[in-house]
Amino acid sequence: MAGEKFYLTTPIYYVNDKPQIGNAYTTFAADTLARFKRFTGSDVLFTTGTDEHGQKAAQAAKERGLSPQVHVDEMAKEWEEIWKSLNISYDDFIRTTQERHKKVVNFLFEKLYKKGDIYKGEYAGWYCTYDETFWLQSQLKEGKCPNPWCQREVLWIKEESYFFKLSRYQEPLLKHLKENPQFVRPEVRYNEVISFIKSGLEDVCVSRKSFEWGIPVPFDQKHTVYVWIDALINYLTLSGYLQDEEKFKKFWPADLHIIGKDILRFHAVIWPAMLMAAEIPLPRCIFAHGFWNVEGEKMSKSKGNVVRPISLVKELSKELGIGEDLTIDVVKYFLLREAPFGLDGNFSKTALFLRFNADLANDLGNLFHRSLPMVKKYCQGKIPQPEGETNSEIKAIILESAQKIGEFMDNLEFSLALSEVWKVVSYINKYIDKSAPWRLAREGKKEELDQIIYNLGEALTKVCLLVSPFMPTFASMAWEQLGIKEDLRRESWERVKEWGFLSPGTQVKPGKPIFPRRTEDRGQKN
Ligand code: MSP
Repeated sequence: MAGEKFYLTTPIYYVNDKPQIGNAYTTFAADTLARFKRFTGSDVLFTTGTDEHGQKAAQAAKERGLSPQVHVDEMAKEWEEIWKSLNISYDDFIRTTQERHKKVVNFLFEKLYKKGDIYKGEYAGWYCTYDETFWLQSQLKEGKCPNPWCQREVLWIKEESYFFKLSRYQEPLLKHLKENPQFVRPEVRYNEVISFIKSGLEDVCVSRKSFEWGIPVPFDQKHTVYVWIDALINYLTLSGYLQDEEKFKKFWPADLHIIGKDILRFHAVIWPAMLMAAEIPLPRCIFAHGFWNVEGEKMSKSKGNVVRPISLVKELSKELGIGEDLTIDVVKYFLLREAPFGLDGNFSKTALFLRFNADLANDLGNLFHRSLPMVKKYCQGKIPQPEGETNSEIKAIILESAQKIGEFMDNLEFSLALSEVWKVVSYINKYIDKSAPWRLAREGKKEELDQIIYNLGEALTKVCLLVSPFMPTFASMAWEQLGIKEDLRRESWERVKEWGFLSPGTQVKPGKPIFPRRTEDRGQKN
C-alpha cells in the first residue's frame, strides 16, 4: 500500500564460501520484491549481510592460514561486491562483527539472562559445524547430520553451556501461529512448524565454550554466544534497535523475512520465542522458499556442480550475446518464473535457453522490435496524437492484469505475476495482428492508425513498468527505445493503472533486438 513502511530481509550469509545460485535466489527474490514495493510507494528497508562468527567461519579461516578477522573481512567485502555487481538494491548490509550488532546481542543476551530465560547447564550432544546446529542422538540419520541438504559428519560435544528456555514458549508460539495464519508461509511450512512445536519444544543451547570466534557472553566471557542466536538478532540491529529509536519505531516489526526452507525452525520457532522473551513484537511473516537442484542433482562442491552467479552471468552473457547487466535480468527471470516461490526448482542451462528464446526473445523482445519500427514507418517516428476514445478493450485488459499482478506480488507469487505480464505481452502481440496497422496505412485510415499506434506505445510503457522490478536493465533499455526520458521512467504504480501516460510527440528510437534469439550456432561458437 502506498506510503506504508516495508521492512524486508534476506538471511545473512555464511562467509566460509562465496555465493552460489541458491543464495542468489533468496537475494534476487527479495530484491525484486523490494523494487516492487518501492514502485508501489512503500518506504522500504531492504537488508542483507554476512554471518561471520561461529566454528564454520573459524575453520574456513584456519584452512586458509588466516586469522578469523582477516578471513571474514575479505569475505564480507567479496559478498558485498558480488551483490552490488548483481544489481541488488539493498539499503543496508550488516556484518555480525560490527560494533552496532555486538551491542544489541549483548543487551538481549543479558536481558534474557536476568529474566531467567537463559540459564547455565551442561550440553552433551552432537554438533554439525556446517549447519552450525545442535542435534540429539535420536535425531541423527545413520550417525550423520539429519538435515537432508547437509548429511555431513557431526561432532560430539560435552561442555558447560547456557540454555534458552524455549520450552516455556511452546504454548505462546502455538497461540501466535493460530491467531496469525500468515505468520509462516507457504501453508506447507506453516503446518510443518505447527507440528514441530506440538511435538514438544526442548530448551536450546545458546552458547559455546570450546572455541572463541564469536561474541563473548557478556556476563561470562569464557563462553561465546551461539552463532545462530547472534545471527538472528541481526534483524533487530538493522532496524535501528538501541541505536536509532525513530528508525526502530518506524520499521520494526519486520514485515517479511525471506529464507530458504532449510532454516525455517530457527526463524519460525527460536527467533519468535526469543522476541517474546525480550517482549519485542514479532515479525509479520516468514516466507520459506524451496531449494534449487542443478541438472536434477543436489549442488555440492564434491560433485563439482555448484553454480556461482557471477561466473554464470559471465558465461551466459557470452553465449547469449548480450551485456552482463541484461544477463542478470535473464537469470532472475528464469529463477523467478521457472519454479513457484515456495517449491523446489531445477536449474539447467537447457531450460534457461528455452525460456530465453520463447519468453524473452520471441515474446517480449520481439514485441518491442516489431512495434517501434511501425511508429517510424507510419508516424514519422513520433507517437501520434490519438483522436477520439481509446479502444476500451486493450485498456481494460491491461488494467485488469495490472491489478492481478499487484495481488500476486503481495502474495510473493512471482511466477504467477510474470505469467500475467506475459499474458499482456501476448495480448498486445495479438492486438497488432488483429488491428493490422500496415493495412490501415495502405487504406489511408489515418485516424484509426494513429489510435492503434498510440495504444500500442502506451501498452508498451505498461509492459516496461510491469517488468521493471524483475528486469530493471531490460526496462531501461526498452524505455530508451520508447524515447521516454529518465525522469519519466521511475513512475509510480498509479501510472500502471492510468491510461494516457505516453505523451504524443514522443520520438521513439527503435534499435537492435534487446534479446536476440539464441541459435545453436551461437551456443557452439562460444
Ligand atoms: N547464516 C545462515 C542464515 C542466518 S539468517 C539469521 C545461513 N546461511 S547460508 O549462507 O547457508 O544460506 C543462506 C540462504 O541460502 C538460505 O536461505 C538457504 O536456504 C539458501 N540456499 C542455500 N542453498 C540453496 C539452494 N540450493 N536452493 C535455494 N536456496 C538455498 O543459512
